[in-house]
Amino acid sequence: MCGIVGCIGINDPVKYLIEGLKELEYRGYDSSGIAVMDEEDLKIIKAVGKLKNLEEKVKKIKFKNPFSGIGHTRWATHGKPTELNAHPHKGHFSAVVHNGIIENYQEIKNKLLKEGIEFISQTDTEVIVKLFEYYYEGDAFKAFKRVLDEIDGAYAILLITKKEPKKIFFAKKGSPLIVAKNDKEIFFASSDAPLIGYANSAHYLEDGEFGWVDDEIHLFNDEKEIIPAFKPLPSNKESAKKGGFRFYMEKEIYEQFDVLKENTLGRNTKDGIKFDELDKEFFDDINNIIISACGTSYHAGLVGKYLIERNAKIRVDVEVASELRYRDPLLSKDTLFVVISQSGETADTLETLKMAKKAGLKTLALCNVDNSSIVREADRTILLRAGIEKGVASTKAFATQVMTLWMLANYLGDKNEYDAINEAIEVTKVDTSIHEKIKRLSKRYLHGHGFFFIGRDIFYPLALEGALKLKEISYIHAEGYPAGEMKHGPIALADPELFVVALLSKNILFEKTKSNIEELVARDATTLTISSEYIEMTDDFIKISEVNHPMVEFFEMMIITQLLAMEVAIRMGNDVDMPRNLAKSVTVE
Ligand code: M6R
Repeated sequence: MCGIVGCIGINDPVKYLIEGLKELEYRGYDSSGIAVMDEEDLKIIKAVGKLKNLEEKVKKIKFKNPFSGIGHTRWATHGKPTELNAHPHKGHFSAVVHNGIIENYQEIKNKLLKEGIEFISQTDTEVIVKLFEYYYEGDAFKAFKRVLDEIDGAYAILLITKKEPKKIFFAKKGSPLIVAKNDKEIFFASSDAPLIGYANSAHYLEDGEFGWVDDEIHLFNDEKEIIPAFKPLPSNKESAKKGGFRFYMEKEIYEQFDVLKENTLGRNTKDGIKFDELDKEFFDDINNIIISACGTSYHAGLVGKYLIERNAKIRVDVEVASELRYRDPLLSKDTLFVVISQSGETADTLETLKMAKKAGLKTLALCNVDNSSIVREADRTILLRAGIEKGVASTKAFATQVMTLWMLANYLGDKNEYDAINEAIEVTKVDTSIHEKIKRLSKRYLHGHGFFFIGRDIFYPLALEGALKLKEISYIHAEGYPAGEMKHGPIALADPELFVVALLSKNILFEKTKSNIEELVARDATTLTISSEYIEMTDDFIKISEVNHPMVEFFEMMIITQLLAMEVAIRMGNDVDMPRNLAKSVTVE
């Protein structure tokens, strides 16, 4: 998804812009660009593809004492990923970067075309800079405000202009933007990561805020100048580095043991579950729960349904946010509305949250990014404490989402599973001999016409998640199915070229799932069974620990499915951290 950086008053703006964009790479992008103001001119450099292409081009440019700049990674929405469509977009004397969507851009474009103004891109963003120059009559801030008055939609905008070169103009509505500073320099970014190491405090812009920076920050809301609410930024970038692993995803799989300890710290206690963020009164009069989320977070929500209904006896419905938001759902006030999101910026999930609030429901977010849009919108938040997740394919965030839901189920049901939770954390320590075995096994699973992941109960959502992980990074077709559902249609696909990953719990419906595997084996499907109990008929087998709690099995199987997806993808030669067509944070619908 698009990323934004900007800076002013800094010795080497080009370095910050490129480094900052690298920090945002994990969000997914297909082109990038920077605009740098130096003593000679406003210089714009853009490139399609990876950031190294941009870097190569930038190396060839001579900058004369550059003093400010803006940068962007673009994930195409309006118009193909080409250099012309990449940001920054320029006019005659200005340049702009933008995240979000200008909904009335066609209307504005038509108006400007009639005035003889030319457009060179297919993007909605270009209207911002063209409209700005159209309105410019000697006062850049005035022109910028007129643009904001006229555009509809969602945006985070940075604009620079040769007319007032010592300023950057900014605005935020619906897309994230942060302005940050140290003693003498000012920076912008669409999320924390680029700022760490450069700035020490940050103001997270609210919707409707705009202004400009020179050597100070001039922040406005409506017509009033307001004081930024600075918060300290973390200073340690190390946790966001690969740390010797081949991919961030691999590092993040291995990190899950530590991350889960962090996630449960002070929450899973010998006396039961404690959430500092919650009080029991918050749940007064709650008879139902709706969980709304997308992708992996949705799968975590499905696990939550099994756990909450079983442990707390509260009815739970789990909804795909992109469907829920347009469905006119029946929302009653005795329903707690829970959103789950790693990034906290997923547009569909955020919209359902706003919808639930409007309907007067109590809202709770399970989120990994503090100060994100979802966190700011929700009544209460439980932070996932997974740390920065860079791999586009979510792993450690999923682990913390499931763990948090498990704790929530126990909190609501007054259950104490202190030991089981600790045991579940313990099995997420990656056993390197199992990892080696998966590396070896993966070579057998590179062809075929697809994968089925099957499981029952909580292992059904894990099957969905295993299949999603595999298809996201290996580009092989994979589906998750309830094991008992195969005979109702999908089993028609069974032949030796159909690969089945069977999640066979010893603790839940063992015999029934085993029969489902037998049915597939009888039709010659190639099976890889993950279980604590060996079954003769399977082609491949990965043994997990013999334990008494299904959630402990769940977490060990989760690690195996993640490693399997990664090793298959690596053998296919894919970029595991940045799979094609995907973005880390999906801030458009
Ligand atoms: O940031 P969120 O958790 O709201 O994101 C939701 C999905 O976009 C996300 O889980 C997506 O499915 C990931 N690529 C999964 O690996």
